[in-house]
Amino acid sequence: MSDSNRAFFHFSALPMSTRMVYTMTLLVLGTGYLFAMLQVFFSHAGLDGNPKNISAQDIRIAYHGSETDTRLVTALKGPMAGMLPEAERAVIFKWVDEGANPDAYETRIKPILEARCIACHDGSNPHIPVLTSKDEVMKVVAKDTGATIPTLVRVSHIHLFGITFIFFIVSSIFTHAYMRPLWLKCVIIVLPFLTILTDIFSWYLTKWLPGFAWFIIISGALMGISFTVQWVVSMWQMWFYTLPPDVEACGGALPVIGGKKRT
Ligand code: HEC
Repeated sequence: MSDSNRAFFHFSALPMSTRMVYTMTLLVLGTGYLFAMLQVFFSHAGLDGNPKNISAQDIRIAYHGSETDTRLVTALKGPMAGMLPEAERAVIFKWVDEGANPDAYETRIKPILEARCIACHDGSNPHIPVLTSKDEVMKVVAKDTGATIPTLVRVSHIHLFGITFIFFIVSSIFTHAYMRPLWLKCVIIVLPFLTILTDIFSWYLTKWLPGFAWFIIISGALMGISFTVQWVVSMWQMWFYTLPPDVEACGGALPVIGGKKRT
């Protein structure tokens, strides 16, 4: 047997109590992973207007912001379209297109809103935006720029520390699995540590260039695959698996004490 197998202790060589610790840890971490996936779903799924699934567009909007419209323009193209004549609507669109200059608001926009909108948007209905003052109107024309840098930095440090802990535990357990070729086992172990880095750097890249949303998606998928493989193989080999006889006999898996295999 090659040297690479020298210090390899298979699960079957570990005490029952250690295997219990490993099993329970994997059970709780597996549950944690499922909740993490639910959290990703609930915080992203509705962003592109379709709350049923999570799409690349959801990820782009979350990090980069909406490419298309502000809230005001979306409303005026949709449910509020009939509230004012076409010509007045065009004035509002032009103002937003030119960057929603607050100084032009008083002369060009305020008269239209007062005549057409504030009958309803005067604050009497708490569920719709107030359009009676400049500050309130500026809120519905603010460009959606996605997650802010301070938010990304906060989530980055939590993820870098947290996910490293999780995979340090999971892959330390997985080192006791028998998997050949050895390089495959090594790739599975290294992958999540690399993808947490590519995932987090892609957040910042996506904020800048929305196309990088795919890097976030691929990183997350590879991390999930690695977690699943390590979890399933560890659990299975811990309780249901018998090592091939040549591996067991070489002494690499089961420690040899005084020339006799320990049972
Ligand atoms: C007859 C009452 C009424 C008038 C007049 C009216 N709105 Fe609304 N507006 C509503 C109601 C009700 C909603 C919430 C339901 C909806 O979005 O369809 C709403 C929602 C909105 C929203 C928020 C959409 C969102 O993102 O949730 C904006 C922005 C808006 N209106 C702008 C305007 C503008 C601009 C005008 C004037 C041109 C106007 N509204 C005139 C009743 C009115």
